[in-house]
Amino acid sequence: MRLVVAITGASGVAYGKRLLEVLRERDIETHLIISKAAEKVIEHEIEMTKVRMEKLADHPYDIDDWSAPIVSGSFETDGMIIIPCSMKTLAGIAHGYSDNLVLRAADVTLKEKRKLILVPRETPLNVIHLRNMTALAEQGVVIVPAMPAYYNKPKDIDDLVDFVVGRVLDLLGIEHTLYKRWRET
Ligand SMILES: Cc1cc2nc3c(=O)[nH]c(=O)nc-3n(C[C@H](O)[C@H](O)[C@H](O)COP(=O)(O)O)c2cc1C
Repeated sequence: MRLVVAITGASGVAYGKRLLEVLRERDIETHLIISKAAEKVIEHEIEMTKVRMEKLADHPYDIDDWSAPIVSGSFETDGMIIIPCSMKTLAGIAHGYSDNLVLRAADVTLKEKRKLILVPRETPLNVIHLRNMTALAEQGVVIVPAMPAYYNKPKDIDDLVDFVVGRVLDLLGIEHTLYKRWRET
């Protein structure tokens, strides 16, 4: 399996880190793009450098690397996950405005009818955010808001992160035990 993963500048970059760790454990090939804003959020929220985050991926790219294979639909992938996804990136994808590698790779994923999973994070949401999400959902994009559940009785932040990442893995058909399912003992 080969996946494109993007981390953009919304709060919740720990979700992206955890996803990369799990994909690495399973020997899934990852192509990673970290936006410029995400770089700052990574430093602030989880005190990690971009370079260290990139070590979790097989193929990291610069946000402006127009020679990256994921620029083209002829490079086959099994889909793309943007985790977390900022409202800016969401807007860019919804409007086909592909002025960086995250936006271009997402545009390619859409045009090639591959799986595109977005984990948006913002609160509250304005009508523009909601309309952009609707436009993408109408095209088959899976919107997985960073909204952890509480029925599985999370004990710490790691449990909250694992719930959201686990739901993304469910959608990718990747088996895991990151969270306890409803009624599971
Ligand atoms: C600490 C921090 C937290 C942020 N959290 C969010 C957020 O949760 N959602 C969001 O849409 N933007 C958030 N932003 C703003 C985005 O980083 C900003 O809109 C940026 O232009 C997004 O660019 P990108 O999509 O290329 O990463 C945050 C910015 C900072 C510095």
